[in-house]
Amino acid sequence: MCGIVGYIGDQEAAGFLLDGLEKLEYRGYDSAGIAVFNGTNIRVEKCVGRLEELKQKIAHDMPGGAMGIGHTRWATHGRPSDRNSHPHADESGNFVVVHNGIIENYLRLKEELIDKGHHFASETDTEVVAHLMAEHYNGDFEATVKKVLSIISGSYSLVFMCAHEPDKLICTKQDNPLVIGLGEGENFIASDIPAIINHTRKTYILSDGELAIVKKDSVWVQNRDGVPISKKVFEVHWDAEAAEKGGFDHFMIKEINEQPRAVRDTMTGRVAKDETGIVFEELNWTADEMSAINKIFIVACGTAYHAGVVGKYYLEQLARIPVEVDIASEFRYRSPLVDENTLAIVISQSGETSDTLAALKEAKRLGARTLAVTNVVGSSIAREADQVVYTYAGPEIAVASTKAYTTQLVTMLMLAIYVGELRGALPAERAQELCRGLHRLPEQIEDMLSDMDSVKTFAQKYGYSEDVFFIGRSLDYAVALEGSLKLKEISYIHAEAYAAGELKHGTLALITEGVPVIALATQYDVYEKTLSNIKEVKARDAVVIGLALTGDESIAKYVDHVIFIPATDKYLAPILAVVPLQLLAYYAATTRGCDVDKPRNLAKSVTVE
Ligand code: G6P
Repeated sequence: MCGIVGYIGDQEAAGFLLDGLEKLEYRGYDSAGIAVFNGTNIRVEKCVGRLEELKQKIAHDMPGGAMGIGHTRWATHGRPSDRNSHPHADESGNFVVVHNGIIENYLRLKEELIDKGHHFASETDTEVVAHLMAEHYNGDFEATVKKVLSIISGSYSLVFMCAHEPDKLICTKQDNPLVIGLGEGENFIASDIPAIINHTRKTYILSDGELAIVKKDSVWVQNRDGVPISKKVFEVHWDAEAAEKGGFDHFMIKEINEQPRAVRDTMTGRVAKDETGIVFEELNWTADEMSAINKIFIVACGTAYHAGVVGKYYLEQLARIPVEVDIASEFRYRSPLVDENTLAIVISQSGETSDTLAALKEAKRLGARTLAVTNVVGSSIAREADQVVYTYAGPEIAVASTKAYTTQLVTMLMLAIYVGELRGALPAERAQELCRGLHRLPEQIEDMLSDMDSVKTFAQKYGYSEDVFFIGRSLDYAVALEGSLKLKEISYIHAEAYAAGELKHGTLALITEGVPVIALATQYDVYEKTLSNIKEVKARDAVVIGLALTGDESIAKYVDHVIFIPATDKYLAPILAVVPLQLLAYYAATTRGCDVDKPRNLAKSVTVE
């Protein structure tokens, strides 16, 4: 996610803005910029690349002035470039904004503004906000911000500057974080606490829908209808390191907790608001094109490969196309049967994994149509593929992937619904039902995250086991693969994921007294069969932790402990089921004192074969 800073006071704003942005560098970004009001107008300086490049650019001509905003960008709409960097201004340069998140309806708004004669300088969704400010400005900055907020939809934290009213900054948020730092004769705005803790520890944490008018000696918070809100001052006691992790002990647990936002952002603009279906403006596929596809390959590595395994179930069952899932390093060397009627989907968080990139090139060479599902705009894989669908997980810092995986699953499900409808394989009512389920996901993940003490207890109790087995059938098996990988990656416990029905074909001998078995039982069409497999391991005295849907009244009879996830559709269950498994791995690793964020022998992005 991008970083935001803002300053208003008596000091030179640029100093704080650059310093604040530096404190947010750890989050990852591809470009940086600041805007400062110099007494007459707003000067914007920005460029692609590291903050250091911006600093060098302005070193001999620092924008002077005591009010400004700054931004580090992690590209979402439009690749990293000088033009696409924030802050963004309207054509007059009087309205300047920085933004984190996604403006869902920006394309339509942009077209309307172009019809009215606006000229755009960037490909971003954010620039639309600055132009809307100019379009609707009626001599009242605050009223215009409210008007613009009533027009845009999506997720955002936004800070507005207006050259006509340079005594204030206005900021607001919806599904993205924003804090206000309270100083003496100066006030600060930031997307994250590390940017401000060198200056103040007194903050207001803004809630969704709140709007703050920030002047140098006052902060006035209200809702969008102008009703005043009395905010409690939140005193930050974290040190700088804890602040980077948002008060969490590790990036991994922070990122696990970011999943509701990440999933919501990935669906924004794609799952129709009225839940009637899926829209992929970036694909714009037609029924004819999709009918011509007779085979799909999904190719990826590591966690992304596991997302591909889930994707196979989705695409085969909902879109009725045969799908093969390949590990990228295998695909390249096995002469895959690919032709022009093949769709090759590569999945990669980083967009830079060498094996995945090479597999993509191979699929292209063989004539396939190619699609990348990736988290990094403008990455090598995004550039190489014919088309791209981005996940909006935001930068993932912990080596073990969590929020990237859940957003990949959401993307694969949306794709399957989209293709299923285009091919006439998925009835509209079923698509709508799944869209309703998708809409509920962020809240369900939030609820789960607030009540996971039992998972921590199990992890502490069984965290010293030598072997752990994960079993499940159908989509539960696909999720078991990822649960097992998470545990291995960060706790170094030997873990195996098995298709529950396959245990008796050899592996059952390894299930002995006291061996923990995590049994996933969320798939109603294979539920009874999974219960039989649970009985098999219980008969060998395994300790079984069942993972089941809330409302399942039978499971407790067959297992030692149960973790319940919210009741949901079978296709949505994987996206919820993986969360307790991520937490189980995390708490097992912390119980064993492992270096959670940087596990041994594992790199975040593997750019060698
Ligand atoms: C490395 C990471 C894994 C990741 C895999 C694929 O092995 O340690 O966590 O799943 O690469 O990465 P990608 O960026 O292509 O998704």
